[in-house]
Amino acid sequence: MEEAVRKLLDLASKGIAESRDDRRALEQLKVRLLGRKGELAALFKNLGKVSEADRPLVGKILNDAKVSLEKMLAEALEESREQSIRRRKRFDVTVPGRMPLRGRLHPITQTALEISRIFNWLGFETVEGPEVELDYYNFEALNMPKDHPARDMQDTFYVSEDVVLRTHTSPLQVRVMEKRRPPIRVIAPGRTYRCDSDVTHTPMFHQVEGLMVGEDISFGDLKGILTIFVHQMFGPDVDLRFRPSFFPFTEPSAEVDIRCVMCRGGGCRVCSQTGWLEILGSGMVDPEVFKMVGYDPETVTGFAFGMGIERIAMLKFGIDDLRLFFENDLRFLMQF
Ligand code: PHE
Repeated sequence: MEEAVRKLLDLASKGIAESRDDRRALEQLKVRLLGRKGELAALFKNLGKVSEADRPLVGKILNDAKVSLEKMLAEALEESREQSIRRRKRFDVTVPGRMPLRGRLHPITQTALEISRIFNWLGFETVEGPEVELDYYNFEALNMPKDHPARDMQDTFYVSEDVVLRTHTSPLQVRVMEKRRPPIRVIAPGRTYRCDSDVTHTPMFHQVEGLMVGEDISFGDLKGILTIFVHQMFGPDVDLRFRPSFFPFTEPSAEVDIRCVMCRGGGCRVCSQTGWLEILGSGMVDPEVFKMVGYDPETVTGFAFGMGIERIAMLKFGIDDLRLFFENDLRFLMQF
């Protein structure tokens, strides 16, 4: 009997050693050794066959064995529980990291950069100017004196009698010409402001101004440059047309329409069934403006143009609601 108990204890320590952190195997081992139909129980059954004289001693041996088996298994199970907690706490370098959201440029910024890129490639330098502007640059020097009716059209935010939020990027024409001598080729993107707010207008919006001044710059140059721009921006198969217009600071003036990029000319809601979309204003720099900056209108000529960046972005990306640009909804912005 002593022999059998020793074997059982041996079996137990071997079994425990083999299934160190395996909780399941330890539980199974426990059932096998200590369960009601387990090996120790079988030995207890044999107790009846032992002679009465030996029975107390053998009984004690079996009871001791039971106590030490229970202790061994309880310790092994506790050890494996701690082990698994320790394992869970350990830093696992193979787990894939959580990616932070990557930022990206706003579609308006992307469009402004794309416009700049095209004109830079055509030799135009990108310049910037103040958004809080003198009345002089925003209106006066652009051939719009104080009582000029064109001022009413612009819904100006006045900061004071002489200071406004610029209503367009055209003041850059004057600022650049004042500082430099021809030849000039500049492009000026930036924010502009008008006291106007509805489905198609926001109080702040963006424009890009272009200016080319030199000797013998003609209306043909204006048409050529703007045609190249439209084909670069919207694709070589997009038609455009120059429509006579009026601006106080250009003469003659023209607005440029492109064939509707939504319906390709068939007529739709976006182009109000006309098949055409207006994208910019332009013209030959008015001699009055040249005089304001001290240029001789007899020897220099030039053209200027201005376009709304929101409008270009909407056509380029097929966006039909201007407000999306200003709501900063990530579901919208993440698409660009
Ligand atoms: N500044 C004009 C506007 O905002 C556009 C324009 C710019 C027209 C340059 C002609 C020349 O409507």
